[in-house]
Amino acid sequence: MIVDNHNRPITYLRLAVTDRCNLRCFYCMPEEGIRYLPKQQLLTYEEMERLVRVLARLGVSKVRITGGEPFVRSGLMTFMHQLAEVPGLTDLSMTTNGVLTAPHVTALAALGVKSVNLSIDTLDRERFHQITRRDELPAVLHTLDALLEAGIQTKLNAVVMDGQNTQDIIPLAELTRQLPVDVRFIEEMPFNGEGSHYPVLHWTHRRIVDHLRDHFPDLQRLPDAPFSTASTYQIPGHQGTIGVIAAFSRTFCGTCNRIRLTAQGTLKTCLYDNGVLDARALLRSGATDAELTAAFLQAFSHRPANGFEAESRRDTVTESMSTIGG
Ligand code: GTP
Ligand code: 5AD
Ligand code: SF4
Repeated sequence: MIVDNHNRPITYLRLAVTDRCNLRCFYCMPEEGIRYLPKQQLLTYEEMERLVRVLARLGVSKVRITGGEPFVRSGLMTFMHQLAEVPGLTDLSMTTNGVLTAPHVTALAALGVKSVNLSIDTLDRERFHQITRRDELPAVLHTLDALLEAGIQTKLNAVVMDGQNTQDIIPLAELTRQLPVDVRFIEEMPFNGEGSHYPVLHWTHRRIVDHLRDHFPDLQRLPDAPFSTASTYQIPGHQGTIGVIAAFSRTFCGTCNRIRLTAQGTLKTCLYDNGVLDARALLRSGATDAELTAAFLQAFSHRPANGFEAESRRDTVTESMSTIGG
């Protein structure tokens, strides 16, 4: 296993297969969408698979497929089958908005996908429409049913937004009563494709937990899973758990085992860096596996100890989460 220059193992790749999305969540992108990348700028599936193979040889064992919305890219399931065969990968998972996912859930389970993170900020159809600018809540709920039916471990991601969906915190948390899901409340980050629109974070992780405690006084904190971004809680007697992700007010830098590949093949060794390696250019210049390996190792030996502070990009980010891959 490879460790970086601060002795953190690099075991987890977040791979964005597209920057496109069929929703328009206002905290992620403007109504008109972001300027999508032309197709030739995207890594092909073959290129992605090659990079994953090289990284798996270096010790990456977990790959999370992200986007944009992964299912917007055609041929995704064929690619997933190829990835499932890569030696060394023990954990293949996906983050999806659930609009197009339901028909593929059985196949995902069959190829060994154990966990899927589903974005769902509200259980109210009208608010869902307002937040995502699309009326797709029924499709997402259908995906949730299919995931549970298939026995895939499911995390529900809800970004908490002042004045938008704070009334949904309790109903979402209530889902854990009957369902074995992990409902996670996420602090909003300024990655909406337009620059920061929330200079002040009104709903910090502390406020979210206080709010949960007001309604569920016996809320219990569970031990942190290794490398997890969430603090986990449970209401005694409930089947599922509740997570709170302090995405904006805290950093996970100290134990960060993650690297990212954007849809255009830029390697990020930190969520907040601007990209440290153009893997696509390297691939397309005919680099050998040994050359790719050397370039990755070089990048891993220059990771910032705390990219969150080092880059101080929190107030200047104009990227969309859809480009970064979350
Ligand atoms: P698993 O631990 O594999 O379940 O992944 P995850 O919870 O990180 O993934 P997911 O795609 O569901 O993302 C949940 C939220 O955490 C999103 O808002 C991400 O942008 C945020 N997030 C993921 N990685 C990081 C990180 O390195 N730093 C920060 N600050 N936030 C992150
Ligand atoms: N702040 C916090 N989380 C975000 N996500 C997308 N944009 C933001 C943002 N600005 C979440 C989505 C998805 C996950 C990958 O990232 O809800 O579940
Ligand atoms: Fe699409 Fe996810 Fe961005 Fe919403 S947050 S627009 S679902 S990529």
